[in-house]
Amino acid sequence: MILSAEAGLAGVIGWPVRQSLSPRLHGYWLQRHGIDGAYVALPVRPSDFSAVLQCLPRMGFRGANITVPHKEAAASLVADLDETARGAGAVNTVVAGEAGRLQGRNTDVEGFLDNLDAAVPGWRQRTRRAVVIGAGGAARAVGYGLVQAGIDEIVLCNRTRERAETLAKGFGRQATILDWEARADGLEDTDLLVNTTTQGMVGNEPLDLSLVRLPTAALVTDIVYKPLLTPLLAEAQRRGNPTVDGLGMLLHQAKAGFEAWFGTRPVVDDRVREFVLGQADSNR
Ligand code: ATR
Repeated sequence: MILSAEAGLAGVIGWPVRQSLSPRLHGYWLQRHGIDGAYVALPVRPSDFSAVLQCLPRMGFRGANITVPHKEAAASLVADLDETARGAGAVNTVVAGEAGRLQGRNTDVEGFLDNLDAAVPGWRQRTRRAVVIGAGGAARAVGYGLVQAGIDEIVLCNRTRERAETLAKGFGRQATILDWEARADGLEDTDLLVNTTTQGMVGNEPLDLSLVRLPTAALVTDIVYKPLLTPLLAEAQRRGNPTVDGLGMLLHQAKAGFEAWFGTRPVVDDRVREFVLGQADSNR
């Protein structure tokens, strides 16, 4: 695609950002829709983040995705937050509005919910108790999504209990804490299990969690997508549990930003999924 001088600009800000699949994803959608626009990776150190964020609209960017480790910092730097970003305490998408004023959104919440909705229609009605492993930035978005979905009982289980307690306070009375030591027994009567830690990712140990007590009807999902089949999902499948991998969350969270910056609502389908995974070329 040859860009004109009026090409729309967006990107992803992270440190490091080399591992991000977002440029490939947005690049695919730009090409598929024939849009005069570019989406680039912007490696920005934490110490430079504030200055870069301020400059973004002044440099003609329509906005950006914000990724690790800047999501919480973005929530404190951007004055205009939508309800989801405020609730999750993290921003993953900024959109330049009038006079270059940035609006902060959290589309990870929508990404998490849309991914499950697309893969397992009816999961909301069938989920009474959900167990969330982890209490970092990703757990915030997942927990807030479960609150939005109206799940009765949201159980937070983290190696460091205090972090889970802090998170639970923000979620109100639906949220309770499960001690890390009791995590295996705590899976009884659970309808949905979500791993939000980085355990199971390439280069990390598998999540240390026995599924013996988990009902085989429970849905198991992982936010890790490298590998797609994490040890947790492989074990769940072996037992007969339905599973949803984490790539869909990445794809679905990207829709709202693309639409805001480039004016077209993109579609998440098998073609884009295969392309992002490197299993297909962009002309398919
Ligand atoms: P993110 O913002 O991407 O979620 P994070 O804030 O670093 O990243 O959170 C990582 C999560 O993985 C945390 O819940 C962390 O637990 P702690 O709060 O106890 O650090 C969890 N985690 C990391 N390594 C872990 C391990 N070896 N076993 C269990 N949980 C782990």
